[in-house]
Amino acid sequence: MKIKGKEYRTIWFENNVVKIIDQTKLPHQFIIKDLKTVKDAINAIKIMEVRGAPLIGATAAYGLVLAIIESNDRSFLKKSSEDLINSRPTAINLKWAVDRMIKKLSGINNNEILNIALDEAKEICEEDVKFCKNIGLNGLKIIEEIYNKKKDTVNILTHCNAGWLATINWGTATSPIYHAHKKGIPVHVWADETRPRNQGANLTSYELNEEGIKNTIIADNTGGILMQRGEVDVCIVGTDRTLANGDVCNKIGTYLKALAAYDNNIPFYVALPSSTIDWNLKKAKDIPIEERNTEELSHIDGIDENGQIKNVRIYPKKSKSMNLAFDITPAKFITGLITEKGICKASEGELRNMFNLVYE
Ligand code: MRU
Repeated sequence: MKIKGKEYRTIWFENNVVKIIDQTKLPHQFIIKDLKTVKDAINAIKIMEVRGAPLIGATAAYGLVLAIIESNDRSFLKKSSEDLINSRPTAINLKWAVDRMIKKLSGINNNEILNIALDEAKEICEEDVKFCKNIGLNGLKIIEEIYNKKKDTVNILTHCNAGWLATINWGTATSPIYHAHKKGIPVHVWADETRPRNQGANLTSYELNEEGIKNTIIADNTGGILMQRGEVDVCIVGTDRTLANGDVCNKIGTYLKALAAYDNNIPFYVALPSSTIDWNLKKAKDIPIEERNTEELSHIDGIDENGQIKNVRIYPKKSKSMNLAFDITPAKFITGLITEKGICKASEGELRNMFNLVYE
């Protein structure tokens, strides 16, 4: 998608270096950063220079390419794989991408391994672009249907950033919105601020602005009253891990929005590529929920009138705080899952049917 009118992807490979858009600097500064070693890739994932489930999966795949450039010692590759998988615990895409790379590379000799790894990392990205585009075309039908009934602007609430910045291009939750906009359907997005990292305000609003899509940033607690007032037609969010039973783990606060939507009879959809489905884990309580540094809560970045970026503390120094990064929305509160294959109910049977998988 576009930034200042120029098409970008979130990650690419050039001259033996992985290029990323440093998302810790957005929206105030647009900086393209080089990742030169696997350690750089691990650090970028940890400190969220790259974030969003599909994008951290792609970064892990390219991280292994960097590991191969650094050393042809297979034990280094194995250790790098483990470190990449452990760099953030919740999104399943990290493990999915690393497992896919390692499977592809097993039995490959040292002369060929770099080219094959690079091709596979590129393929992971291309596939994500294709899947996100299809999620958009499938989700477009939901927005179109609302518009055909309402004949007025469709108001969509989203949480965090499941936009193109969280993927390689298009986004998951935002892809139906971009497709609706391209088709001339009037849309307006309520962007939950998404404390503490403010991905909704800093990233979702930013990328929608760059594409000319109307949006309003709201504090995280505002969605409920907007739903009661009839100012939300549909909620569409992303996910970091969806279980086969349809339970969804996504950015902290998603669950509360789903509850409010359920109480107000507002459709609540989750958009996801199949790389975000965990077919193995049976119970949502077993998903590792990332707990991040409490400085993300107690401190905030901002820009002053002179264009200087400042980081300030907003809480009393002595106060204790807690920073859980994700929560679980049970399948019963979800109207449907928008995947690259189509839309299905958040249920084990429908999800497996959609992907032609048989019960084990
Ligand atoms: O902590 P983040 O910014 O990586 O969390 C991102 C989300 O929660 C997104 O909703 C999710 O990864 C889906 S991205 C298409």
